[in-house]
Amino acid sequence: MEQYAIKGGNPLVGEVEIGGAKNAALAILPAAIMSNDTVFIENMPDVSDTNVLLQAMESVGAVVERVDRHSVKINGAKIADVRLDADYISKIRASYYFLGALLGKYKHAEVALPGGCVIGSRPIDLHLKGFRALGAEVKIEHGMVIAHADKLVGAHIYLDTVSVGATINIMFAAALAEGKTVIENAAKEPHVVDVANFLNSMGANIKGAGTDVVRITGVEKLHGSEYAIIPDQIEAGTFMFAAAITKGDVTVKNVIPKHLESTTAKLIEMGCEVEESDDAVRVVANKRLCPTHVKTLPYPGFPTDMQPQITVALAMAEGTSIVTESIFENRFKYVDELAKMGSLIKVEGNSAIITGVERYTGANVTAPDLRAGAALVMACLAAEGFSTVEDIKYIERGYEDFPAKLQSLGAQIDKVETERDLQKFKLKVG
Ligand code: EPZ
Repeated sequence: MEQYAIKGGNPLVGEVEIGGAKNAALAILPAAIMSNDTVFIENMPDVSDTNVLLQAMESVGAVVERVDRHSVKINGAKIADVRLDADYISKIRASYYFLGALLGKYKHAEVALPGGCVIGSRPIDLHLKGFRALGAEVKIEHGMVIAHADKLVGAHIYLDTVSVGATINIMFAAALAEGKTVIENAAKEPHVVDVANFLNSMGANIKGAGTDVVRITGVEKLHGSEYAIIPDQIEAGTFMFAAAITKGDVTVKNVIPKHLESTTAKLIEMGCEVEESDDAVRVVANKRLCPTHVKTLPYPGFPTDMQPQITVALAMAEGTSIVTESIFENRFKYVDELAKMGSLIKVEGNSAIITGVERYTGANVTAPDLRAGAALVMACLAAEGFSTVEDIKYIERGYEDFPAKLQSLGAQIDKVETERDLQKFKLKVG
């Protein structure tokens, strides 16, 4: 029973290196197989989701050479199969990127339909709408998405909802289509820009990424590349809020401050001091946090992936705060777990009405999903006394060395596997 054991009460103090962006890596790795040359990718986060994707591409014949934890060489020349149906594939939502990558390169792809998850149903209708607009025939049979095109031809595609996944997946297919494609109402997240930059480094012709109109001119083929993934804005923001909630002083290093603007703005509103330098941001919180209101929005708005983290922090602020989730339909599930620690939050529809409490008390909580799991760890670090966090597999999908990085900032946290380990931790922390 792997879990985190935590003794709360220590302010987090020090510096932490931020890793490569998980949500950029989960798209860039599948894109690497679109060339028949070798692609060298650096600053890849060593988390379970990226490792599963590497395993998946090997299963269809790509050659994957792991150079070290954070860099890998990929060559897609020998791909012999365009069908990805292993069970583990549907557990990794980002496996849908193999649809666009394989359809773009081979004009055929068969990938298990990704399941929904606890934060919402998470359909992929916009991805499929884009593929069809480019001339592909797409059907869903026996849990598989099967896409085929005699040829892909550029099209003008309007996305009804701003979708990171659909924007990226359509970019993949359009990159090797004939003619021009325009994606309107495109997602503008930093990782969308990173993926476009990566494809362009392979010889694609993509303009406008980072705006809501992306223009792609198809090319014959893509060549090899060497590319370093951008830093993870959500991992950085998570540590920034962890500093805020523990009244600490934390500097996140190897970040792009511009990507953190909405997080920084909210932390300042909540009473933190924030200092930016060219590749680091320092957060100092030496008093109880102030309340605020926030609504999650597509980039550059406040990110939905930071919603649990700000909610957990506001639930200890003075006064009343409101957090509105406008991206996913069920992303407050963790509130029931937080209530075990003494929080006072009422979820009404897609808003959480928060009455700040002075303190959390330690409890045994369970992570319902990746970001909520990280937020619950933050709450345990701020709580008085002892806590455990179960289902940490969710957290380890997206946070590399999470306990070790927190320990380096003074947190009393260990990953324990047995009751005996648990007792040993309790004796150690007293
Ligand atoms: C990506 O998911 C991220 N995952 C999510 O991060 C992130 O929360 C989300 O973007 C929003 O920023 C990865 O990049 C692997 P969307 P994605 O398509 O692409 C609806 C994390 O914690 N929609 O931008 O799946 C959808 O239901 C994860 O790292 C459709 O209706 O998100 C949602 O309401 C969680 N039809 C909204 O759009 C579609 O075809 C935004 O989803 C696609 C999406």
